[in-house]
Amino acid sequence: LYQLVFYGVCFYLAESKIVKPRQETRKFPDGMLFGAATAAYQIEGAWNVDGKSENIWDRLSHQEPCVIKECHTGDIAGNSYYSYKRDVEMLRELGLDFYRFSLSWSRILPTSFPDKINAKGVQYYNNLINELLKYNIQPMVTLYHWDLPQKLQDLGGWTNPLIIDWFTDYSRVVFELFGDRVKYWFTINEARQICYEGYGTGGLAPMYNISGYAEYLCYKNILLAHAKAYHLYNDEYRSKQGGIIGIVTFVTWYEPESEEHSEAAEDMRQFDWGVYANPIFSKKGDFPQVMKDRIALKSMAQGFPRSRLPQFTPEEVELVKGTSDFFGLNHYTTSLVYRNESVNGYYVSPSQSDDVGVITYKDSSWESAASSWLKVVPWGLYKILTKIREDYDNPPIFITENGFSTLGGLEDDRRVAYYRNYLDVILDAMEEGSDIRAYTAWSLMDNFEWDNGYTERFGLYEVDYESPERTRTPRKSAYVYKEIVRTHTLDH
Ligand code: NOJ
Repeated sequence: LYQLVFYGVCFYLAESKIVKPRQETRKFPDGMLFGAATAAYQIEGAWNVDGKSENIWDRLSHQEPCVIKECHTGDIAGNSYYSYKRDVEMLRELGLDFYRFSLSWSRILPTSFPDKINAKGVQYYNNLINELLKYNIQPMVTLYHWDLPQKLQDLGGWTNPLIIDWFTDYSRVVFELFGDRVKYWFTINEARQICYEGYGTGGLAPMYNISGYAEYLCYKNILLAHAKAYHLYNDEYRSKQGGIIGIVTFVTWYEPESEEHSEAAEDMRQFDWGVYANPIFSKKGDFPQVMKDRIALKSMAQGFPRSRLPQFTPEEVELVKGTSDFFGLNHYTTSLVYRNESVNGYYVSPSQSDDVGVITYKDSSWESAASSWLKVVPWGLYKILTKIREDYDNPPIFITENGFSTLGGLEDDRRVAYYRNYLDVILDAMEEGSDIRAYTAWSLMDNFEWDNGYTERFGLYEVDYESPERTRTPRKSAYVYKEIVRTHTLDH
């Protein structure tokens, strides 16, 4: 009888969910794709060989006195120009479905323009793509991951509207060369970072610091460049090549510090990633209304006769709308937000932080990665996935980057925990209806972490920068990720 009562009570507790039975394993759908990512400048090296010309990161990293941490450069980087077979071997070791990598514009088109195609540069990418396909690993290719040809920068870079055509011409070359085998395309990686940090705050190459003006010019041009490339593929290549194409956006979750700052947090989300998501994924298109309103108002108060934010014509709004077959989502972290209208002195000096009128910061209790900006907050990703589902009519989502930095070492338990916890909330969102098709670990291997050089390590594989061939060794996270991918299962 005691036994009967005991089992009866257990059954009641389980059924009533008073005691939630711990779920041992959670499964991803069979069709979910898993991969890993890198980018050309961060791993290739061979910066000046076989006809490649200079790009903005070559220029910046060679600047004296140096501006990159420890004066590191991407001259050799991970040596992938010569070690691509090892890279593919690593992807095979991990059992991945795809490899997301980027093309170097100045390696393919040394003059920046399609008058001269560099056969050796093309050969490198052909070799890589063919090696991947030999082992049934899908290439997912980013056309532009931050390494603008220096010559185009000398002509104003992303602030010059002519770049819309330059980028379209480059895209055509790339679709012609590789589109017979590449079925997944990403036009631009993290347009916001390119514009805001490259031209607004001076955090990334070309390190312009003209906030409140230059990043807004860049926003408009880069959206139009992306849209033209999308339409080019859609109109001329899709039917014969059969691939899909979209843009990749860096999405941070902004959480209000308290209820009264909800509007401030939403403003920040719109300035930070709505700036690309709204024109492309919303029904109405165009820059977010709050950006248009706030920047116009501040510009007027500062005595400008027109808004510092350039406008789209109605035709341009239509051109940009709907130009992504999926939501390409790079995600790492979350910030807290509160309203503050006088970040740099209200109405004094135009700057984007004044335009949005908020302060963002990190909760000091959040666990930190080696990168100071990267705090571990998995629920932030859950909120993003929910918001994208609700605001943009549940688009297919490709998680194109997610990862954790350390200072190095093979026993990377904190990276393992990061991946597990973020994958867990991805499963939560999927259960609630988010249409997540792919997950990408950043990164396959350690690489040149932009202005932080090689000091911050994101790799599933550790790279030995002392060895001439840049030897790669799997970390613990590589073994764990491999198991997750093999079983499509997350164990608790
Ligand atoms: C996103 C960028 O796309 C990538 O290049 C960078 O290394 C990672 N974030 C980590 O900061």
